[in-house]
Amino acid sequence: MLELISVSKTFNAGTVNEVRGLRGVDLRVRESSFTVVIGTNGSGKTTLLNAVAGVFPIDDGTIRLGGEDVTRWAEYRRASKIGRVFQNPFTGTSPSLSIAENFALAAQRGRARGLGPAVSRTVRARTREMVRQLNMGLEDRLDTAIGTLSGGQRQALTLLMATWQRPALLLLDEHTAALDPKSADQVIQLTDRIIARDRLAALMVTHSMQQAARYGDRLIMMHRGQILFDVDGERKKRIRAEELLERFEELRRLELLDEGAAEMLAELYV
Ligand SMILES: Nc1ncnc2c1ncn2[C@@H]1O[C@H](COP(=O)(O)OP(=O)(O)O)[C@@H](O)[C@H]1O
Ligand SMILES: [Mg+2]
Repeated sequence: MLELISVSKTFNAGTVNEVRGLRGVDLRVRESSFTVVIGTNGSGKTTLLNAVAGVFPIDDGTIRLGGEDVTRWAEYRRASKIGRVFQNPFTGTSPSLSIAENFALAAQRGRARGLGPAVSRTVRARTREMVRQLNMGLEDRLDTAIGTLSGGQRQALTLLMATWQRPALLLLDEHTAALDPKSADQVIQLTDRIIARDRLAALMVTHSMQQAARYGDRLIMMHRGQILFDVDGERKKRIRAEELLERFEELRRLELLDEGAAEMLAELYV
């Protein structure tokens, strides 16, 4: 389904600000697999998703999506196969447009012409049906500007729009992180339902160890631009949030050791 082979990306190469965002990442994601991605800040989670979405060209490696080599495809071309939801509820929707208008735009994505009136009516009816399933009472507010809704309501709608065309791959980047706990819970449950119902392949970045333990059928942990840890099947089912936190602690200890070791070496060489 999705395949990354030795994918590397360095930012600001050759300058003092050089960062190795991805270091030879190999990853295969099967059809209808819900893969959760965790890792410390700056470990390369967003860079991984951006590389897949084609936000920038990668330096090395190959990316295949749905059997096609998309390594050199521009972002807009990959967008026909990929649905994305970001952390910020303001990304992904047009605040001044109504719910109905935002869905009409989403339905039009990848089409050369606008929607005819008959299609528009169908889209509106389908929008109402989909929005009703959220149980947020939004089906009666289709003409309300999206910008006036709460973050949770917006993320729920963004998720519906991102999955509306049944994308080959769904990319979620901490899409519940900016929400209050109750809304975050609603949106993650909706996410889980949609992925299961449509049998989508999904990569979900989360900072919540509870979410990482509870959701998905596979879990990968990134560290310094590499995949450090990768579990699925029964092992994934049994994993607990506490265990993940312990792994982070362990990493932090190793990092400190590393820094100490580097300093000692530096002193030896002056
Ligand atoms: N466009 C960019 N230009 C320069 N550095 C970047 C860019 N995007 C990410 N980085 C750097 O790459 C590293 C990984 O970032 P990122 O993938 O955003 O981490 P996270 O795991 O927190 O999502 C960080 O050091 C970050 O500063
Ligand atoms: Mg990130």
